Amino acid sequence: MKILVATEKPFAAVAVNGIRQIAEGAGHELVLLEKYTDKAQLLEAVADVDAMIVRSDKVTAEVVAAAPKLKIVVRAGAGFDNLDLPACTEKGVVAMNTPGQNSNAVAELAIAMMIFMSRNQFTPGTGMEVKGKKVGIQAYGNVGRLVAEKAKALGMEVMAFDPFVPAEKMVEEGVIPAESLEQMYEQCNFVSLHIPAIPATIGSINYNLISRMPKGGCVVNTARKEVINEPELVKVLEDRPDIKYVTDVAAAIQAELNEKFPKQVFATPKKMGAETAEANINAGLAAAQQICNYFATGCTKFQLNK
Ligand code: 3PG
Repeated sequence: MKILVATEKPFAAVAVNGIRQIAEGAGHELVLLEKYTDKAQLLEAVADVDAMIVRSDKVTAEVVAAAPKLKIVVRAGAGFDNLDLPACTEKGVVAMNTPGQNSNAVAELAIAMMIFMSRNQFTPGTGMEVKGKKVGIQAYGNVGRLVAEKAKALGMEVMAFDPFVPAEKMVEEGVIPAESLEQMYEQCNFVSLHIPAIPATIGSINYNLISRMPKGGCVVNTARKEVINEPELVKVLEDRPDIKYVTDVAAAIQAELNEKFPKQVFATPKKMGAETAEANINAGLAAAQQICNYFATGCTKFQLNK
């Protein structure tokens, strides 16, 4: 089978080597399309492939239609808002992700961002320690749990809101279950977002929530830009010059935010949460293995469009 790695933001070379070893070791052919700049390149590259590994690359209905032999696509990572699942299902393409494989890298970045903002974006002046401060984890999944663990090690208090995780489990792990999102925003110095971009969450981080934060409150976004209500974020930053927003997923209006609120807002130049050799190896090799397993045994573990 022909397996394509299509990554606009490429994996570390060491991860690509590992993917190749797994694919070729199982008797498959591996082809690469890295750092592509145009959708046309992707459409051409998928024409004769049986399987695809992607990162945040958009696998749209157009891409699926341009890949008549495609049987499986694996998003090497957690969030799968870049995959058109109905289009995959319609064409009989199995879609998977690799949950948990890059979580530690993202969690480390979330912690780094909290410290970076607490130290005035590494500019001179008096900053704040995170020890003794309270962080609210919005969605206690793979990344949220790791942020909680690391925050506790730094002496922070941790609260979490997740309607899908029993409160007892959080308590067992030393985390205070929030009764509501409103309560969590009211009580926390930091809120770290780990929610997917789905209809229920898109635009949900709004004025009503952010404006409840205590003085100096900081929202940390290593999730998706779509979950932020950007016009309301602007309003809250205007009304509350003490509030901060740090993001690894640049807003649609990032240039405006940077210009208006340079001390309150920071965005990484390019999404880098999962940009570590370890995360690339974990997620990339897992994706390759899942494809080989599917071809060898029909294993559909982690299938998203069942
Ligand atoms: C994910 O959903 O796994 C992360 O957002 C990482 O995305 P990336 O592979 O585009 O860096």
